[in-house]
Amino acid sequence: MKTTFVHITDLHVSAPELMDSKLRSDTTTTVRKVLGMIRQIEPRPAFVIASGDLTNHGDAASFRALAGMMEGFDIPVVWALGNHDTREGFYAGLLGSTDSADQTYDHHQVIDGIHLITLDTSNPLRIGGHLVEAQFNFLEAALDAHPDLPKILVMHHAPALDQDPDWEWEGLSFAATDRLAEMLKGRQIAGIFSGHIHQDRFTHWHGIPLIVGMGLHAALDPLHPMVDSIRSVQGTSFSLCTLRDSGLTVTCAPLPSDRRELGISTIEQLQAYEAARAAQFAA
Ligand SMILES: [Fe+2]
Repeated sequence: MKTTFVHITDLHVSAPELMDSKLRSDTTTTVRKVLGMIRQIEPRPAFVIASGDLTNHGDAASFRALAGMMEGFDIPVVWALGNHDTREGFYAGLLGSTDSADQTYDHHQVIDGIHLITLDTSNPLRIGGHLVEAQFNFLEAALDAHPDLPKILVMHHAPALDQDPDWEWEGLSFAATDRLAEMLKGRQIAGIFSGHIHQDRFTHWHGIPLIVGMGLHAALDPLHPMVDSIRSVQGTSFSLCTLRDSGLTVTCAPLPSDRRELGISTIEQLQAYEAARAAQFAA
């Protein structure tokens, strides 16, 4: 087999009418530009993985803006939700459906001989991700389907690599990570595609290629120690991926960047943001 596809993540689209002061770059222009570049790729990619943070605030208007950008884009897109998204906004604005906001967006499908399993790791109360019992039941059933096909997992929050830092904001919760590792043991998983930390980062996780994309909004400076603060710099990237019988290849296609600083956020500020968002959700 030889199937080529594209990975984009962290689009952070924001409807123009929001006049979004939290936006660190012109994501509308970047998303349009990247969609145009993907259209030009030869041979045509079989699908595009969009691994969450599709919008900056999760509102239906921003999802409608994204839907407008996708008009005429005829390559299948595998959507996943991130912590900046809301299920309610996504269902109403992008899918035009009235599904309940309580309903996690988990789905699986076969495209061009690849079995794609998407998990909704968004947790309305947290920056970090989580999976609940029903989602593990979904995953177990999905893993048993199409046993002869290579499988790719799509989830906004990558599994945790260890338990440092102990504030679980960088990825999937430790409990869900452990459960996932156990469930995937012995399975033929060609790769896991994620976003969230705005860095191009590649890991061999329990023998599985774990691909995190920088995304289309801003980059987190990998040279800035993420102990007390995180440093955002200008930087966007997507990747061209090929799955062959021999394994997975991921080639990054970064857009030009001057790496200028866009801001520094302390961990305390991130925790305050999380608390405010949780309070807003609970209200
Ligand atoms: Fe993001």
